[in-house]
Formats: sequence, structure tokens, C-alpha cells
Amino acid sequence: MYFCTQFLGYNMKDIYQNINAPQTVEISKAATMLGTSIITIRNWIKYGYLQVSKKKNRIFLLMSEVKKLQNDIENGTFTKLNSRANKSKVKKFFVPIEYSQNKNHIILIQSIVDYIKEHHIPTSTALALLSLNVLCRKDLLVKFTIKDIINKRLIFKNKQIEKEMQEWLSDLKITKELLFLSSCRLPKQKDVLGFIYQSLMMVGEKAQAGSYYTPSNIVDDIIKTYVKPRSRVLDPCCGTGQFLLAFSHKIKNPMDIYGIDRDELAVRIARLNFLITFKNLDFSPNIFHKDSLFDRFDYDDFDVVATNPPWGFHFSLPEKQQLKQLYAPLTSSESFSYFLKKGIDSACEGGIISFILPESILHVRKHQDIRRYIIENTYIQKIIYLDRVFKHVFTPIVRLDLVKKKTPNKQINICKGNKLYTANQLKWEQNPDFNFDIHINNFDSQILDKIYAYPHTTLEKQADWALGIVTGNNKKYLSNELQNGYEEIITGKDIEKFSFKQASCFIRFTPKKFQQSAPETKYRAKEKLIYRFISKYLIFAYDDKQRLCLNSANILIPQIPHYPIKVIAALFNSTLYQFIFQKKYACIKVLQSHLEQLPLPLWNDNSYRQLLIISDHFMNGENNANEMDDFIMKQYGLSKEETDYIHQEVT
Ligand SMILES: C[S@@+](CC[C@H](N)C(=O)[O-])C[C@H]1O[C@@H](n2cnc3c(N)ncnc32)[C@H](O)[C@@H]1O
Repeated sequence: MYFCTQFLGYNMKDIYQNINAPQTVEISKAATMLGTSIITIRNWIKYGYLQVSKKKNRIFLLMSEVKKLQNDIENGTFTKLNSRANKSKVKKFFVPIEYSQNKNHIILIQSIVDYIKEHHIPTSTALALLSLNVLCRKDLLVKFTIKDIINKRLIFKNKQIEKEMQEWLSDLKITKELLFLSSCRLPKQKDVLGFIYQSLMMVGEKAQAGSYYTPSNIVDDIIKTYVKPRSRVLDPCCGTGQFLLAFSHKIKNPMDIYGIDRDELAVRIARLNFLITFKNLDFSPNIFHKDSLFDRFDYDDFDVVATNPPWGFHFSLPEKQQLKQLYAPLTSSESFSYFLKKGIDSACEGGIISFILPESILHVRKHQDIRRYIIENTYIQKIIYLDRVFKHVFTPIVRLDLVKKKTPNKQINICKGNKLYTANQLKWEQNPDFNFDIHINNFDSQILDKIYAYPHTTLEKQADWALGIVTGNNKKYLSNELQNGYEEIITGKDIEKFSFKQASCFIRFTPKKFQQSAPETKYRAKEKLIYRFISKYLIFAYDDKQRLCLNSANILIPQIPHYPIKVIAALFNSTLYQFIFQKKYACIKVLQSHLEQLPLPLWNDNSYRQLLIISDHFMNGENNANEMDDFIMKQYGLSKEETDYIHQEVT
């Protein structure tokens, strides 16, 4: 029996148009029609998505229902796979939809993943069988029988593919029921094997390995911009070859394309993808199973190094120590920084380094080590703000394009949504912690320069900070009523500008029982500011009642002689400071390191006094925030045009 083409090219529309179409269909046939497994169909019956009818003790499905399902799948409107019933079957796995080129592919991939999981097929075995399936469709594998595949007597049309597949299959145990994978329907999608591999990885596994493969539109844009037919290129953590395949669209000689990954299976798939792309050539790809950070790799001088490196990879202690020696100026232990340094070092003079990275690289203090390295060894060509890209990854993403060359005073192109503007690298060199403030255009810069040029101090080393309490069990420790021995505790959402909403949470202060608590003196400070921690907005309340707070709220106790605490509250709560915060950090958390960089103007006592009077009026509800905003902006000497612009930008 020949398996390869038996289920392929099944044109369902032709079948349905047959006027003698049957009223019912067997489960196995429905599974083939819908491109899914028998077990998945049984599950759908169990969860009531398909009705059955029995004839002579055999189960049939209504053709009309199967047909409807087929339509829904083709239109991408079939959502039942997302229902709880099915999710619980595959609950720790998910199909990375951002990686799909067509929403209709998702259902098919999901059903293959279901099949693999339901049959407990080891990932490597499943992918080897799916690889045979792909090779068959590409006409690189001669028709085979069940026997052939079990005995591994397969005839390939490319020598290197044969070598690699035989080696892969040699370690695997193939049984009859696994053969569905070598013949099932597959979506026409680039790197379909990588897509399935990604979908088979558990969420935790993915996060741990930092294995979120890059969607093709992002990869393609990098290649289109920088790669030339004779470029020599590298992806130092290539996964299943998203960048390598895209490189191959522009580069004629496959030996100019290099890839490395520490994941053996990903490397197998990447090599196979690559050999399929250059199927008429006889060569062994320069794609290696190695560790880019620790193993020796004797190639450098690349024209383009492009990738999406792992972020937040957990290194062991000995690894961390080794990394400190190997990557000397870096101290943060952040995996993307090591890869970025490696990328810069492997590029030739004038070479491009284009990386997909979390936005935090631009401004989080811990990453100042790599920012300094970038500034000292490259000029920044372009930064594209991509926002959220990966399912289950909430961090905004940026693309950072660097040129390995030191050219002072270079303009950086920044793309954010429809906005295109430039920034100046020299300025970033002078920023505290080398912050790359990409949200700032020239007009913003003009305003910020004016503000920062004004004599000022900051909170750095002039304040006490504390986090709110983590009880470890809010249900147990918190009450929504004021009981005997309890006191109010502030949560992030209770905080308003200057004051608090009516307390809605109460607690008995027993710090020893809590998971985390600051020293009591911080909560009981005579005067302090409590601010929302997870917030795009600066919202600071003044507290002189020694209130406690939960971890959604943080504490700031300024210690700048003769600088009134309420003036700091007024400044931080103003539209102007929201503008500064938004432009410089655009962060969804209010971080101590950011607050420490905000300017506190050195005005005369009379100005402070006036601002205090205005903010008292605001707290008493006698005026609105405009009066405070106007006063602060006027003190800084901002023009009407600048003031209007600030109001318009702060949303
Ligand atoms: C985010 S994925 C990116 C894959 C591919 N470059 C892309 O952009 O789609 C990160 C890859 O880095 C690999 N990786 C993690 N640590 C590595 C190391 N030390 N050396 C080589 N590869 C590594 C993982 O196995 C994973 O395939």
C-alpha cells in the first residue's frame, strides 16, 4: 500500500458537488476530510461538536455537519479548538499564531499537535515522520510502503538529505500507528516543521529556552533592507531556520549562510529546510549544533548578523562565572546581551547587526552594560518599535539595527507606528545609564532640553524607597471590613493624585507572617508618598497617616533638605512630568530608577510656596489640575506652542 499521495490533494469541494453525495460518513473518512486524527474526531463527538448516527452497530457522522465544519475550518471561523474542553487536553501547549501565514493553517496544525500528544509520540519521532511527509510532497522522496518506512528502506532524491534523514531515523522506533504523520495533510506554510515543533513545545519549556521563533514579515523586512546577493550572513541562534531561509531568498551561494543553535532537533529541521530550498545542490549546510556563547566557532567577519536571541535565559552559577570572563564588560547575566555582543564581535567593519529584542534593552538600568558596548562599538542605524509580537509574551518588542563602525554624531532613524523621526546618538551617550530614549522626536527633545537645562537636583541617593507588602495569601490576611486590631492598607487602585479613595482593604499588621514586608519604619514614616507601581501614569498620593500598602503600591520618602515633599508630589502628578516620563521611558511600570532621573527644579522658596498653595487647593477640590499644570510649565518658561503640544501628547 502506498501512503504518500493517498491523502494528498483531496479536493473536498469536488466531492460535495457530487449529486450522489452520501448522507453519512465514517469517522476515519471524516478525519481524513478534515485533516485531523480519528481521536480528535472522537473528542469532538464527545464534546458535542459533531452528532453521530448508528447503523448496524457502526458509527457514522452526518455529512452535512462534517461539511459545515470543513467550511468553518476553511474560513477560519471554527473556534471550538479554543474551547475549554479541548484546551484542557493540550493545556500547556499552544500554536504560535503569529508564526502562521494563514489563519486556516492553525486548525490543521492544532489537529496534528493533538494527534502527537494523544499518541504520546516523542517529538523527534513525530518530526522525523513529518519530515518524510514534507519530502514526499516536494518530490524528494520516492513513494514508500509501510514496510519501507519501518525497515527504513527509503529512496531519497538528494544525497545529503538521504544521509541526514537516515541518521535521524536510525535512532527512532517507528510503529504502524505513527504513519498517519507521514501522510497527513499539511498546510502550505514556510517552515511547517518549525511551526509544528514550536507548537509542540510547552509554554514553560519555550520560555526557559527563549524559543519564540520570529514571524516571517519581521524577518523578511530585515533581509530586504540589508542582505545582498554576495553577503556573508549569520544567525547565531537560528532555531529551525527562519532567518536562514529568508537569507536564501537573496543569497545565491548557500555556503555564505551560517547558523548555530544549541537545540539539536531545531538544527536538524533547519538543515533539512535549507537542503530542500537548495535541493539541486550537493552540499552540507553551514548550520551547526553548537552553543554560540560557550563553544568555539571559527568564523567571523559577517556582513549581516541577524536574529531574535533568547531573552532571560537562566544560566547556572558556573555558567554565569564563565560568561563574566568571556564577555568581560557585561555584568547583567542577560542572555540577549551576550548574543548582541557576540553579534557585534562577529560582524565585519561596516557590517550590520539586526536583532529583535524586548523594549527593556532601551532603558532598564540593568542593561546599561550592553547599551554602553553598543555605543562604544557601533552606530545605531535604526530602531523600529514593533510593540507586542509574540503570543504569551507581553513585553513590547523593538528591532535594533546597528552598524559596526564608530561614526560620531550619527542620526538614528526611529519608526513607531506611522511616525518616522530621528534621534541623536551623541545625546544618548550623555544620558544617564546610556538610555536610548526612542520616544523622543526633535520637538520633544527641544522641550526636554529646556527642562533639563534648568538647575535641578534628583532623587538619586536622596530618598528612601520601599515596596508594598506581599502577604502570600491575600484571602487569609485581608478583610474588606475594619475588624478589631485591623488597619487600612492601600492598594494601587486606591491611589489618586495627592490622596486616596475610601479604603476598601484592611489588615492586621503581622509582618513576620507575610511573605515580604519592608521595615515598619518605612510604612510609619512621618510623611511619605505612595505611588502606583504598575501604571503608565505617574500617580502619587501624599500620606501623613503612616498607612500600610500592598505590593501594587510603592513608597517614596524624599530626603532632600528644604525640598518640600508636597512639591515633589505636585511635580510628579503634573501633565509636564507625565510627558517627561512617557517620552523618556514609555514604561508600564513606574520604576525607582526612572523616578530617580526626573529633574527636581531648584526654584526659590516663593515658587515652592505658591505651588504648595495651588496643590492644597487641588486637594481640597477648590481648583482643577490645570492651574497646577500651568504654574509648573510657566516656571520652566515653556511657550504656548510647547504647552499645547505637551497637553496633546499626554493622553
Ligand atoms: C527566540 S529563538 C529564535 C530562533 C530564530 N533565530 C528566530 O528568530 O526565529 C532562540 C533560539 O536560541 C537558541 N539558543 C538558546 N541559547 C543558545 C545558545 N547558547 N547557543 C545557541 N543557540 C541558543 C534556542 O534553542 C532557540 O532556538
